[in-house]
Amino acid sequence: MCSKILFFLAVFTLIAAAEKCHPNDLKGLINFKTGIFSDTSGRLDTWIGHNCCEWDGITCDNGTGRVTQINLPGFYTSSDDTPLQTSMIGNISPSITLLASLEAIDLSGLVGLTGEIPPSIGFRLPNLKKLSLWGNRIEGTLPESICELSKLEDLYLYENRFFGSLPGNLGKLKSLKMLDLHSNRFSGFLPETITNLTNLERFCIQNNFLTGEIPGNIGDFQGLKELDLSNNSLTGKIPASINKLKAVSTIYLNNNQLIGKIPFFNQMSTLGFLRLNDNKLTGKIPNSFGYLISLQRVSLAYNKLTGPIPSSLGNLRSLTEMYLNGNKLSGQLPRSIGRLSNLLMLRVSNNMIEGPLPRDMALLENLQTLDLSFNRINLSSVPDWLLKLPSLSRIFLAGCKIQGEIPGNLVSTSSSLQELDLSDNNLTGQIPGWIGRLTELYSLNLSANFLVGEIPNPITNLARLGILDLHSNKLEGGLPPSLANVSSLERLKLQKNHFTGKIPNVFLNFKNLQELDLSDNFLEGKIPFGKPLIDFPKGSYSGNKGLCGLPLEPCRP
Ligand SMILES: *[C@@H]1O[C@H](CO)[C@@H](O)[C@H](O)[C@H]1NC(C)=O
Ligand SMILES: *[C@@H]1O[C@H](CO)[C@@H](O)[C@H](O)[C@H]1NC(C)=O
Ligand SMILES: *[C@@H]1O[C@H](CO)[C@@H](O)[C@H](O)[C@H]1NC(C)=O
Ligand SMILES: *[C@@H]1O[C@H](CO)[C@@H](O)[C@H](O)[C@H]1NC(C)=O
Ligand SMILES: *[C@@H]1O[C@H](CO)[C@@H](O)[C@H](O)[C@H]1NC(C)=O
Ligand SMILES: *[C@@H]1O[C@H](CO)[C@@H](O)[C@H](O)[C@H]1NC(C)=O
Ligand SMILES: *[C@@H]1O[C@H](CO)[C@@H](O)[C@H](O)[C@H]1NC(C)=O
Repeated sequence: MCSKILFFLAVFTLIAAAEKCHPNDLKGLINFKTGIFSDTSGRLDTWIGHNCCEWDGITCDNGTGRVTQINLPGFYTSSDDTPLQTSMIGNISPSITLLASLEAIDLSGLVGLTGEIPPSIGFRLPNLKKLSLWGNRIEGTLPESICELSKLEDLYLYENRFFGSLPGNLGKLKSLKMLDLHSNRFSGFLPETITNLTNLERFCIQNNFLTGEIPGNIGDFQGLKELDLSNNSLTGKIPASINKLKAVSTIYLNNNQLIGKIPFFNQMSTLGFLRLNDNKLTGKIPNSFGYLISLQRVSLAYNKLTGPIPSSLGNLRSLTEMYLNGNKLSGQLPRSIGRLSNLLMLRVSNNMIEGPLPRDMALLENLQTLDLSFNRINLSSVPDWLLKLPSLSRIFLAGCKIQGEIPGNLVSTSSSLQELDLSDNNLTGQIPGWIGRLTELYSLNLSANFLVGEIPNPITNLARLGILDLHSNKLEGGLPPSLANVSSLERLKLQKNHFTGKIPNVFLNFKNLQELDLSDNFLEGKIPFGKPLIDFPKGSYSGNKGLCGLPLEPCRP
């Protein structure tokens, strides 16, 4: 008898739970819906009646009937398996704090959500594990109360308009694993307590306005896999304790104002990606770099590093990309560089590196991009092996004191060469006709040399050419009308040569041209009238023998 009543009671509660929603949940959700005046996904259209647990994007607890999840990401897969990008416009109602049992809120990537995080969130939603609001226009500061969310594991607020400093008690979020606040307007210091977040795996706060120093105990983030503090205004040194991040795979500290030396590393054996570029680091590249055995991509570019490139870099067998450009590095490239058999990209331009190049570089059979420009390397004749590296497709040898004609063995790269920069050398002779065989070429820079003769006709075979820079040579003759057949051209720089005659009418066919410089030649006659030629500034045509017409003065009748 008694059990029968209990049974009916139980069934009744279940039905009630399934059909009705807790009045607070209902009120919170209806207020949320009221705040949204556009929802391209149509999911809020299902929010009618009282069965909120059946509504799109809502999950309830089967036992208590309370709403535990709001899942309305802008990018989602609809019931018929189509991936959709949708948006919502409107304010996040502070009433969502009425949904007291919420464990997850996902309103990410909706583009148009505005408003703030309700200040009482930490006291009203104690069970919250996930708060994902990235990719909206939410503003305001992070409320202090957020630090009370002791179960919070994932906090994704990136790509919004949050500002102000981070709450001092952020270190109280003991369960936090993912903290991503990038691309907002946060300012102030990183709170010292942040390293109390011992479960943190990912900490990304790049593209903000943080100042002050990196906390000295940064190494206490024992479980940290990804650290991105790039593009802020952080000052001071890189703390030595960073070496203790044993599990880390990514460290980006680039584009800050960091000073001092690169610290000693010997423990970060899992580090794959390291960017320290665009800071004010000084001193040598430490020999301990050789311990970073998992390193795949590293950039130390645009600092004030001195001394030689350490030979220990040859231990980095996984390395695919290395940027050391824009420093004051000296000495020769170490022979051990030839052991980097996975290297795809090597940039050491704008340093004080001396020649000769180690012959072992010929072993870099996967190297695609080599930039040695503007060093103290003297390639008065370019070594044959260099131009025969089998994978080379981008060669930058500007300011390498190359003498004589354009090296003919470049033809051996004809099936792959995409970018060639031999500017600022002592090249003489004519531009060879075989240049037309480099059919993959996108960018050709032969500026600031002593080249003579005409632009060879085969250049019009370069159907992918986007950038042609031949300025500051002694090239002569007329501008070839056939050049207009290279319709892919975006930047054409022929200034400071000895070109004569008229600008061909067919130059009006350049539909993709964004930059043109024909100044300081001996050109004459009327500039062909029409786009894109009339849109370039006067400076594109100045200093010629007698050009007239728009954008210059009208031609005399
Ligand atoms: C709650 O009920 C739904 C519908 O009957 C069911 O699909 C789901 O697995 C249940 N969840 C739990 C946690 O019991
Ligand atoms: C951080 O940890 C230290 C030492 O364990 C403790 O004294 C401090 O109260 C903690 N701070 C916060 C905000 O959790
Ligand atoms: C750096 O951060 C600022 C502020 O968020 C942003 O406007 C800028 O685009 C960022 N720069 C880069 C290179 O990401
Ligand atoms: C480069 O080397 C060549 C051949 O050794 C030499 O003739 C030339 O003077 C050197 N150029 C410079 C700028 O040192
Ligand atoms: C390069 O050419 C310039 C100008 O003719 C000359 O002064 C310079 O000595 C040459 N450099 C070399 C390395 O030959
Ligand atoms: C070509 O090289 C010169 C000198 O190295 C450089 O100043 C110029 O910007 C380059 N041209 C293009 C189009 O990048
Ligand atoms: C330029 O293209 C036109 C049309 O495709 C063609 O008739 C002409 O021969 C080409 N000129 C040169 C010099 O390649």
